[in-house]
Amino acid sequence: MRNKLLITGGLGYIGSFTAKNIFTKSKKKVYVIDNLSRGNTFAKKYSNSKILNISQKKAQEFIINKKINTILHLAALTCVRESIYNKDMYYKDFKSQIKFIKFLKKTDVKYFIFSSSLSVFEGSKIKKNLSPYSDYKLKLENYLKKLSSRNFKVIVLRYPNIIGSDPSGELGEKNNFISRIVPFFYKNILAKKKNLLYFDFKRKKFPQRSYVHVNDISNINIKVINNFKKFNKNFYIFNISNRKQYSNFQVLEELSKLMNINPKYEVKQISKKESITQVYKLGDDISKYINYKFKYLNLQKILKTNLKWFKKIY
Ligand SMILES: NC(=O)c1ccc[n+]([C@@H]2O[C@H](COP(=O)([O-])OP(=O)(O)OC[C@H]3O[C@@H](n4cnc5c(N)ncnc54)[C@H](O)[C@@H]3O)[C@@H](O)[C@H]2O)c1
Repeated sequence: MRNKLLITGGLGYIGSFTAKNIFTKSKKKVYVIDNLSRGNTFAKKYSNSKILNISQKKAQEFIINKKINTILHLAALTCVRESIYNKDMYYKDFKSQIKFIKFLKKTDVKYFIFSSSLSVFEGSKIKKNLSPYSDYKLKLENYLKKLSSRNFKVIVLRYPNIIGSDPSGELGEKNNFISRIVPFFYKNILAKKKNLLYFDFKRKKFPQRSYVHVNDISNINIKVINNFKKFNKNFYIFNISNRKQYSNFQVLEELSKLMNINPKYEVKQISKKESITQVYKLGDDISKYINYKFKYLNLQKILKTNLKWFKKIY
């Protein structure tokens, strides 16, 4: 059976790179639905996109009419900190995710890739006091596990923090509602403002995160899509990591070096709902199924890919 692929949230950060990389490799434009609540139109030329919310009837009709059988599901609200301050909005998103998944069970969709997050971890264990964002990701994972079957195979990819841009400056992250760590630092450094670094005063530690370049994650998505048949079970969860961790302080330091400016910062206590460390132990090893070598392993190299993109948009 040929893949009839749809990327939900395909005009967002990870989705736009995935659509572009599919186009570059195959010259085919993938189907995308995105409500543009957080995305942008920079990568529109790489996909056949429709501006639709996953909860709309029209999105359902689109999936049926196009006989979609494979979905890379990226559409969601995506920020741990925002979910702590805006619980209702994240609850509403969670409800529409459930409704969307329930609907898919009644369609031709046979392969479903769900983007979850390593933010569910504290060290090697699932964090107890989770943010609404991470809590809903876990609940959706469990729901998918329950619904998965021979005719609805599910692969959950728990992504680490995704960073970086297209080195050519063509694509990158642009979000007017939340500011992830690197764009946030970049804008403050440019404006000669102090950067806010979260810190755990009790453990005397800056949070450590696993960072993966957006091109690496989009190529992993593509490998999983292209190799679905190698996954025999109905349900899998993979923790994606390049086995490197950096603190927010290191990210600020390296970015400031690239920009030739001494970093200024102040520290604030991190919320208990945010993890101090992400995953150490990797679960099921995805390298048993797909052969992928990370191309971006050095933090400087990753951060350097941002410079042209940031100059273009800020
Ligand atoms: N970026 C990261 O560091 C990271 C880390 C872990 C997991 N993830 C997960 O990966 C996925 C993609 O993240 P991203 O960084 O590309 O985020 P993003 O916000 O850039 O992209 C999400 C896209 O989905 C769209 N969208 C949101 N809600 C929608 C809805 N109801 N209907 C249709 N479209 C909708 C937005 O407009 C946006 O274009 C998310 O599920 C996120 O939780 C991201």
